[in-house]
Amino acid sequence: MARVDVVIGSFFGDEGKGKIIDYLSSNAKVSVRCSGGNNAGHTINVDGKKYAFHLIPSGILNKGTKAVIGNGVVIDPKVLITEINELKANGISVDNLYISTKAHIILPYHITLDKLLEENRGKNKIGTTCRGIGPAYCDKFERSGIRVEDFISPKFSELALINIENKNKIFECYGYEKLNAKEIIAEYQEYAKILAPYVTDTVNLLHNAMENGEKILCEGAQATLLDIDFGTYPFVTSSNPTIGGVLTGTGVGPRDIGEVYGVLKAYSSRVGEGPYITEQNNEIGDLIRELGHEYGTTTKRPRRCGWLDLVALKYAVRINGITGLAVNHVDTIGKLEKIKLCVGYEHDGKIDMNYSTNAEYINTCSPVYEEFEGNFGDISTIKSRSELPEKAQKYLSRIEEVVGVPIKFIGTGAERESMIVEA
Ligand code: IMP
Repeated sequence: MARVDVVIGSFFGDEGKGKIIDYLSSNAKVSVRCSGGNNAGHTINVDGKKYAFHLIPSGILNKGTKAVIGNGVVIDPKVLITEINELKANGISVDNLYISTKAHIILPYHITLDKLLEENRGKNKIGTTCRGIGPAYCDKFERSGIRVEDFISPKFSELALINIENKNKIFECYGYEKLNAKEIIAEYQEYAKILAPYVTDTVNLLHNAMENGEKILCEGAQATLLDIDFGTYPFVTSSNPTIGGVLTGTGVGPRDIGEVYGVLKAYSSRVGEGPYITEQNNEIGDLIRELGHEYGTTTKRPRRCGWLDLVALKYAVRINGITGLAVNHVDTIGKLEKIKLCVGYEHDGKIDMNYSTNAEYINTCSPVYEEFEGNFGDISTIKSRSELPEKAQKYLSRIEEVVGVPIKFIGTGAERESMIVEA
């Protein structure tokens, strides 16, 4: 039986999961997205062409690889169709795209509601991507969501009508313009026709693939500290981007999981609001942002930047059962003269290695830093860890020592090839 390897973000997202996924998916027969929606985004460069992925697993770029959108994903049909059309226009076949019957649909009222909720949170705003993700998951759990299998069936118009009428009552209360149910239903019925041929029972597809010895790669989206349960609630996304979400978002079992790769950057970043203990809201943070081009792929927002936090990384290792680390942007951090690494939190005169998502507690902690030498020089063409400058090796070894997990991938530059593989 083949297993499912998983790529998971260790921090607040944007760790460069795409690059590791790109490498691993060449050996996978199936690539699958498990959770989240088009709040995620990564760009892959192939032969000088840029492909932006928000919903479709990027494994689709490999001929013959099945690309599966699992049941845990919330799908904006318009975005998915745009992605399909862009791939087709570039000569990439989407015949191997499979959409779960059980995934949920994002409709215009989810997007309006996301904006409305953000506006009305005032100073407590979360900084969502306003893509309707939270409201779509709310409907799923409240049991008024529309699943793909209903979306492509005659039931859709009736289900959508009830939902739109109900949401319109909310919009009216807030002084928002009401949505036109007839127009939306007609428009989305057209989208349903386009997507229907790709819809299938992906639970059976995945299990049959494993039984046939086909390697599966789970393309994680978002990240551990954005998890609805384990992240810095309420400054999180509305799904479980951690290992549990891989199981509930695909239907594979715990024993089917193989390697779990935790992706991180040699520094850290965060978009949106919420606690971030190693943030450098100063010229160091500005420098990291510029050197690492830390602006959102999906929203273009400048990212908050800071030092790597090993207490948080240890938490990600614990929660996800991470078996190997992928450290990106080692070249970027190596452009600084001095690098700091957070190796513990000081609280009441004691050093704590237990991460907490409690904002009040975090505010009483101060990061304990160790300082490392930077100025690594150009490392982009180095192909083995032992050839890296000693200064870089020291930094990487200390990460492994503190969290107790080996580094299997080292990102050494922006290019696809700029990566050391130790797996
Ligand atoms: P939502 O997922 O749009 O509801 O946004 C909730 C929070 O998660 C916001 O702070 C977003 O910026 C953040 N977020 C959601 N998806 C991603 C991602 O793929 N990378 C980084 N941050 C994300």
